[in-house]
Amino acid sequence: MTQTETLAHEPRTFEQLIAAGERIEPRDAMPDAYRATLIRQIAQHAHSEIIGMQPEGDWLTRAPSLRRKAVLLAKVQDEAGHGLYLYCAAETLGADRADLTANLIEGRQKYSSIFNYPTLSYADVGVIGWLVDGAAICNQVPLCRSSYGPYGRAMIRVCKEESFHQRQGYELLVTMMAGTREQQEMVQDAVNRWWWPALMMFGPPDTDSPNTAQSMAWGIKRHTNDELRQRFVDMSVPQAHALGVTLPDPDLCWDERRGSHDFGQPDWSELARVIKGDGPCNAERLARRRAAHENGAWVREAATAFAARQRQAVVA
Ligand code: 3HC
Repeated sequence: MTQTETLAHEPRTFEQLIAAGERIEPRDAMPDAYRATLIRQIAQHAHSEIIGMQPEGDWLTRAPSLRRKAVLLAKVQDEAGHGLYLYCAAETLGADRADLTANLIEGRQKYSSIFNYPTLSYADVGVIGWLVDGAAICNQVPLCRSSYGPYGRAMIRVCKEESFHQRQGYELLVTMMAGTREQQEMVQDAVNRWWWPALMMFGPPDTDSPNTAQSMAWGIKRHTNDELRQRFVDMSVPQAHALGVTLPDPDLCWDERRGSHDFGQPDWSELARVIKGDGPCNAERLARRRAAHENGAWVREAATAFAARQRQAVVA
């Protein structure tokens, strides 16, 4: 075998795979810090999906028609599936799902700040679909190319379903904007309340992001927080115009030279407060997650006992 052929068969190092833009798989050698960063980001992504079921779940019984209830139920169920997908991706890194759940419930790990805001009217369901799932799409499509194989592959199905989420939300708002003046005002009120928290979903400014540079170097992130925030603003402005709503940012304007929008800065002290647990709904969201976990203990015990008996039956 020639030296080139020998080299071609040599297992490549983590650094060589990353430099070649290739995937890192669960059995590949990887730095402990790469593994820890992925467990951190994937676990918090999963926590966000599970907690994110609560704000819209509050409207399941109050959606105005059977069709709207069915669409919202499908969306909320999708989010549960996204969470399970992502916990499975975290487990391929050696994380234990029970530990991750404890980290969430006991406040040692985060979930997205966006889910700590209340859903005050049915228009919030549409605005969450349009803006929150729209922001998720901007953030998650590049993650389909994340250097860690299971994470990138999990994102493919998640992004397809997020597209449905975004469209159902936008269609709901188009219907309301074609309705009564009161319905139009309900939509504008929801946009006013969700616009800035949606911009905060992309994280702090790059200058204040301790993780972005390393995550970009490792190919976990393919764009920075500010790049994705800009992409989201540029996507949302024409959609808002078509919908007939005003985005609550007086600094928003088109910059012909840059070919994108200038916009105002979110209140970063608000993001810091909400991340620390001082948002409008943080206590309620965690209390419900804790109660669901406690109420589901018997299901976990029964499943564990059944699995143990199955193993005994196989051995016997
Ligand atoms: N809410 C809560 N915490 C946030 C946050 C937010 N909006 N933005 C940043 N943070 C946290 C980070 O987790 C980090 O804390 P940690 O080191 O303890 O984890 C700290 O603030 C500094 O932020 P960085 O920008 O340095 O951190 P990251 O490089 O991890 O970037 C991120 C933050 C952009 C959220 C990134 O983690 C990411 O892209 N995660 C995957 C996507 C995700 O989790 N989206 C959350 C919403 S899920 C969703 O939209 C579901 C959909 O169905 C609606």
